[in-house]
Amino acid sequence: MSKKTVRDIAIKGKKVLIRVDFNVPLKDGEISDENRIVEALPTIKYVLEQGGRAIVFSHLGRVKDEADKASNSLKVVAKRLEEHLGQKVTFIPETRGTVLENAISALKDGEVLMFENTRFEDINGKKESKNDPELGKYWASLGDVFVNDAFGTAHRDAASNVGIASNIKQTVAGFLLEKEIKFIGGTLENPQRPFVAILGGAKVSDKIEVIKNLLKISDHVLIGGGMAYTFFKAMGYEIGTSLLEADKVELAKELLELANGKIILGEDVITAKAFDPESEKHVRAIDQIPSDEMGMDIGPRTISKFESYIQEAKTVVWNGPLGVFEFPRFAEGTRSVAYAITEIKDQATTIIGGGDSAAAVIQFGLADGFTHISTGGGASLEYLEGKVLPGIACVDDK
Ligand code: 3PG
Repeated sequence: MSKKTVRDIAIKGKKVLIRVDFNVPLKDGEISDENRIVEALPTIKYVLEQGGRAIVFSHLGRVKDEADKASNSLKVVAKRLEEHLGQKVTFIPETRGTVLENAISALKDGEVLMFENTRFEDINGKKESKNDPELGKYWASLGDVFVNDAFGTAHRDAASNVGIASNIKQTVAGFLLEKEIKFIGGTLENPQRPFVAILGGAKVSDKIEVIKNLLKISDHVLIGGGMAYTFFKAMGYEIGTSLLEADKVELAKELLELANGKIILGEDVITAKAFDPESEKHVRAIDQIPSDEMGMDIGPRTISKFESYIQEAKTVVWNGPLGVFEFPRFAEGTRSVAYAITEIKDQATTIIGGGDSAAAVIQFGLADGFTHISTGGGASLEYLEGKVLPGIACVDDK
């Protein structure tokens, strides 16, 4: 179903509510990754160029009580937005009330205002996160039209996305949401084949629904990372001190049966005696893992095996690192697979479903070699599970 976008509405002179996902990581009060801010710029700039009055807002972190407010203020993000836009961003440290309302009334065409973290409203009864009807109605009353560009939040049914949409005449997608729908949604609906899915990360339990959905629609599901060891255990191998979800071994067996050969696992792994960046590394065949070693990365034969599937692919969707890429000594598997995917960019649609794998390719300097890197973590995972995301469903259909 195609969705209306910001191109489909009149903007000039309108108070345009723009929900972005500025839930960016902060280290000692500084933004450590501004990708989500950068990705939201095209929509905000477009609204300003068209003569709209932009009212930008987002959640940031989790806010349970007053004490959480200081470390979760969006003030520092508003400052960064101002630098990117090259124009003043009026920051209102409130989520409601006359100060905010007066500032919105004073906005002129082409000006931008940002208000405080929507989750400050969670302190008294999770009004934002539980989509309190009064709150969505109130925020909707502050604008004329609603542009949802917060893909990272699309799996949440909150007052600041679904709540506003239910109380305003027009809800459209911003350019980032449009791009995420096109690349992730479009690919899942109509993938070019062969379609290779690559899954990693620590836990099988986080990826059960994704595996099931991708087994239905992809041609091969390559599995690495910590979750692979539960599958190795299910196949009868000894895995030493590697990550294991003992209560998921039966499920892994069932998935292997269901997969009917579609699940591709490694043949060797890189092990170490301790979870430590300096720990000595060893290459072990999967039936040769000593009892006092743990798997830290995929091994060289596995890299070659995975590369051979990738080289043939017309679609690649990747979610989850294949080893402990944060430690350079154990990053080779994740880096090699990332590189192999960039090599097929001209022949294939290549998508990274957010989270740690996106962080990995950015760290390797390979981000430009992918068709699309999602800004969603949980949202892209639920999208890959085949779920309808409330933050997309609430956007008007074309
Ligand atoms: C994310 O970072 O995945 C989104 O911003 C959603 O955040 P949440 O998990 O705190 O709802």
